Amino acid sequence: MLKTVNTIKEARSIINEWKNKGLTVGFVPTMGFLHEGHISLIKKAKEQNDKVVVSIFVNPMQFSPNEDLEKYPRDFEADTKICEKNNVDMIFYPSCEEMYPDGFCSFVDMTGPSKELCGKSRPIHFRGVCTVVNKLFNIVMPDRAYFGQKDAQQLSVIKRMVKDLNMPIEIVGCPIIRESDGLAKSSRNKYLSESERKAALILSQTVFMGQKAVENGERDAKTLCDIMKRNIETEPMAKIDYVEAVDFDTVQKIDTLKGTVLVAIAVYIGNTRLIDNFIYTV
Ligand code: PAF
Repeated sequence: MLKTVNTIKEARSIINEWKNKGLTVGFVPTMGFLHEGHISLIKKAKEQNDKVVVSIFVNPMQFSPNEDLEKYPRDFEADTKICEKNNVDMIFYPSCEEMYPDGFCSFVDMTGPSKELCGKSRPIHFRGVCTVVNKLFNIVMPDRAYFGQKDAQQLSVIKRMVKDLNMPIEIVGCPIIRESDGLAKSSRNKYLSESERKAALILSQTVFMGQKAVENGERDAKTLCDIMKRNIETEPMAKIDYVEAVDFDTVQKIDTLKGTVLVAIAVYIGNTRLIDNFIYTV
């Protein structure tokens, strides 16, 4: 039976009971407004663990003052229904005061992987993500935690954090879930007007095109990114933030594609910033 829990104390007490019985815990951290992408993470967590916890917390610390914290879509009732339908055991739904009480002043600040790609245009973002995910891990104490490849840099950053800080948690990356026309599922797709929704297809088209080029043997990062940029520029409503090829583990720029590479794009469609990517092992 699904239980919604608002306090750290209660979450810990229930999870401790599970752990004392030797049950494993899978964890899906989210900011709510759940969609098929989240559901795929929940299903994977269900497959691999005895109990599944989903957290719903729109984390103010990962938004800059000029970003969309206030208008970030929220629908707790719909989220609860989705969790119920997918046999989630606990929703952890804390308030801001519960997570960041007065006097809060400790942060997880990563260099390297968190400073590139989205880290350039969203300088405080990964500090907020690492801090909240660290706190959530300490509260939920999961055996495994599930993150979508749609936020590939976040996945790489979290893997690094867990390794660097010796957290005994397996990080499971799950494939990007797309709409039938290719657009990667994202809570932010809700911001798009009808014409923007059509224009947003340029992201997935460009990702598929880049992937094909790599599959056909392209190994020069600049040539690849230039082809992809030129394709995005054919869409008048699109404004490129970045198109880059990086090493997936270090998130550092590469000249030649080798090992496991992440080719990632961020593009504004109107005021909405969307991301997409592919990962390829050469
Ligand atoms: O990917 C997200 O929804 C968020 O960045 C996360 C991991 C829940 C942290 O707030």
